[in-house]
Amino acid sequence: MATLTTIPHTPARTTVGLELRALGKTYDGGVRAVRDLSLTLPPGQLLALLGPSGCGKTTTLRMIAGLERPTGGEIHVGDEIVAGGGHWAEPEHRGLGMVFQSYALWPHMTVFENVAYGLRRRRMGKPAIAERVPEVLDIVGMAGYENRPVANLSGGQQQRVAVARALAARPRLLLFDEPLSNLDAVLRESMRLEIRTLQQENGITAVYVTHSQEEALSMADVVAVMNDGRLQQIAPPEELYARPRNRFVAGFVGLTNLLDVSVRQVDGDTATVRLANGALTGAVSTRGHGAGDTTTVALRPEHLTIRTGEPRPREGELELTGELVSSMFSGNIIDYFVRVPGLPDLIRVQDFPPRTAAPGDRVVLTARAARCVLLEDERRDGASPCV
Ligand SMILES: Nc1ncnc2c1ncn2[C@@H]1O[C@H](COP(=O)(O)OP(=O)(O)OP(=O)(O)O)[C@@H](O)[C@H]1O
Ligand SMILES: [Mg+2]
Repeated sequence: MATLTTIPHTPARTTVGLELRALGKTYDGGVRAVRDLSLTLPPGQLLALLGPSGCGKTTTLRMIAGLERPTGGEIHVGDEIVAGGGHWAEPEHRGLGMVFQSYALWPHMTVFENVAYGLRRRRMGKPAIAERVPEVLDIVGMAGYENRPVANLSGGQQQRVAVARALAARPRLLLFDEPLSNLDAVLRESMRLEIRTLQQENGITAVYVTHSQEEALSMADVVAVMNDGRLQQIAPPEELYARPRNRFVAGFVGLTNLLDVSVRQVDGDTATVRLANGALTGAVSTRGHGAGDTTTVALRPEHLTIRTGEPRPREGELELTGELVSSMFSGNIIDYFVRVPGLPDLIRVQDFPPRTAAPGDRVVLTARAARCVLLEDERRDGASPCV
């Protein structure tokens, strides 16, 4: 398969970013699809809008595109305000390119005609179009396909044409709405890399809507997690994964164990916590909590180690003891499920083979304090602190 390449002097470079200020959308009928959404995207970066179905991703994207009118707040593309504060720029005046889940190509037209369509509407001259179309087709690895009817192309090829069409008019912002959802898993993964490479090499500012955490983490410079119309956290992928802010983000992005705790003592960035079952467990990484707070610790399964034997509490670590209930071998990883007395959920641990414990064994789980993150939420049970 051809890969996307950069051609010299490609003019798709943008010099502006995107800013949303307290953006809101309440549909007729009262659905509050987006609430008080504020974020800033530097030029040349890819923002992933990630969240479950119905959380307001498409609505946000359509407002940026000018296909939907905000009911509150402002949208700035670079130095220009395109919506809000009494301003309104029509979609065709916003300098945007869009790629949708359904490729939205004209099936009866050729590849050339599909890419040229928007340029004609912008009144670009024939010679300029004849030059520009092959240029963008080359960027997406579809050079030489000009005269093919799009109906005869594979899904992946059609999506490349859709990307070429979005790039053709040199947008200052590219918007993607689940563009890979209709492709099979293998193609999806290779297209991810290709879109990311194209975006980076050409310095394109992009907003990429997805409900796939894998897609968001692997492609984005910065990920905005939404739930129920509200921004939950915005951070680079590594930070989002390592330091989720609340229970929703911790649970939506990756696997996580949640432990209800009360904070006993705080010393700089680390805190000593007491589990809901009364056991004093050790140090965790805090985020501005104080002694007496009741909250939740998020802990990734791969950040726990498991061993048999006696507890050996150590400075700067969190330690739990329990009984191994079951373990699952899945090739490169073993999943262990451990019952810790007094905790409602089994604790999940992931480690490399070989298995180090058998069901029924008493096991000790440990994690470094920096890996155990105190969340901002109140404890689930709302119980009073047991300090
Ligand atoms: N035209 C509309 N009129 C009324 N409500 C709408 C309209 N479009 C969307 N909604 C509602 O707004 C909320 C957000 O919808 P939106 O399409 O933005 O979600 P999404 O995050 O893109 O979801 P998905 O992952 O399923 O595409 C939903 O509750 C949806 O039902
Ligand atoms: Mg959507």
